[in-house]
Amino acid sequence: MPSFDVIIIGGGPGGYVCAIRCAQLGLKTALVEGRDTLGGTCLNVGCIPSKALLHATHSLHEVHENFEKMGLMGGAPKVDWGKMQAYRADVVAGNTKGIEFLFKKNKVTWLKGWGSITAPGMVKVGDEMHEAKNIVIATGSEASSLPGVTVDEKTVLTSTGALALGKIPKSMVVIGAGVIGLELGSVYARLGTKVTVVEYLDAITPGMDGEVAKSLQRMLAKQGLTFILGAAVQQVDTAKGGATIRYKQRKDDSEASLTSEVVLVATGRKPYTEGLGLQAAGVELLPRGQIRTDARFATTAPGIYAIGDAITGPMLAHKAEDEGMALAEILAGHAGHVNYEVIPGVIYTTPEVASVGKTEDLLKQEGRAYKAGKFAFMGNARAKAMFQGEGFVKILADAATDRILGAHIIGPGAGELIHEICVAMEFGAAAQDIALTCHAHPTCSEAVREAALACGDGAIHA
Ligand code: NAI
Repeated sequence: MPSFDVIIIGGGPGGYVCAIRCAQLGLKTALVEGRDTLGGTCLNVGCIPSKALLHATHSLHEVHENFEKMGLMGGAPKVDWGKMQAYRADVVAGNTKGIEFLFKKNKVTWLKGWGSITAPGMVKVGDEMHEAKNIVIATGSEASSLPGVTVDEKTVLTSTGALALGKIPKSMVVIGAGVIGLELGSVYARLGTKVTVVEYLDAITPGMDGEVAKSLQRMLAKQGLTFILGAAVQQVDTAKGGATIRYKQRKDDSEASLTSEVVLVATGRKPYTEGLGLQAAGVELLPRGQIRTDARFATTAPGIYAIGDAITGPMLAHKAEDEGMALAEILAGHAGHVNYEVIPGVIYTTPEVASVGKTEDLLKQEGRAYKAGKFAFMGNARAKAMFQGEGFVKILADAATDRILGAHIIGPGAGELIHEICVAMEFGAAAQDIALTCHAHPTCSEAVREAALACGDGAIHA
């Protein structure tokens, strides 16, 4: 029977990164994946294909909004949806092949098929048994459904169906103003679909900085998205040509309905742990379905570990990757660690939104004395030259020590800019450390420095 030091179940960002690191650290490693390609939800039907469609439609948006202003005449290009879909598929294929190449290079064995744990140290894949000193569960998550809503991936869609529609719909109702709803809602709004977002809470992007959320809602509304907040969707009925979405306004319990050609259900995801044989193996689940783990990713069953969306914490690919690397280090006998205080979150809308660390709401709840340094992109020459003067950088620092506690950015390239602050936070930096660092001119990064200056004696261009 084939025998390994580590068998990882699940080939998404958590699992495949863990596998490569295990192999690099000298462990004989195999990874079980039942899809035809590696990369999991993120690469096949999530983060990457959505970014391809966001890039293509952002380019179209640029043509519509800004080209004439720059003297670039000739009108908007025609959209060939089939070609755009082929581009999306190419981007995915290039990356999934890349992981296969990395597996070969690092001598990771890909066990093709769906795996289950049959006994301690035993993994069944198809009809074959494999032995492992350590088993890692990295099976990720799946879209969670709503009572009264049946997904058929034709009219009522999860993100998977919404990425691969046969044609651009005339209208779309998005249930949930979280990351998936706003990113995919943006894609279709830019393509001319009438997009209405129905959200249970009174604000979009739960958990994000409140000021950023309000700005983002205003900017997305200008781009044509309609928001219905404080509305709980109760039921979706489908008929030929579309769907009826029934919802209740939470403030007065009044009922209303909407119709649209398609509906995107983006109300969150839940851990995917079915069919793994966890109960028999002695792996305990938490009440909300996540696998219970300790600080070293060990489950309640000896020799079985878990990482990524299947355990607690934010459901983010990069959080899973970091856990994968940390666990590989632990399994190889080194120290492995994830700093959960410094995990960035990015929404790839236009403008982008990025955050790391604590929000003002959280600091207030904790009763912590803090100062906020804010700088608007309106004072940044580079952003204005790109017609992206809306938005701001906000850095939150401890009132007494100036140590950076969090940062929230809405504006051009926010998803890239945030990492300067992540590095600073990893080093325990004060806002003044960023303020004293020379930043090239003209760059959008200068707005980060200006926000840091605003934590002290004041920004220059405000
Ligand atoms: P989410 O948890 O971000 O947002 C779901 C939203 O649906 C919430 O605002 C919630 O209040 C609302 N909702 C729930 N029930 C409702 C109802 N009955 N009626 C109306 N609204 C309702 O979930 P989402 O957007 O589905 O994303 C799932 C996961 O995937 C998240 O953890 C997210 O972080 C991750 N993801 C991350 C991305 C990124 O980092 N850029 C991209 C896509 C997904």
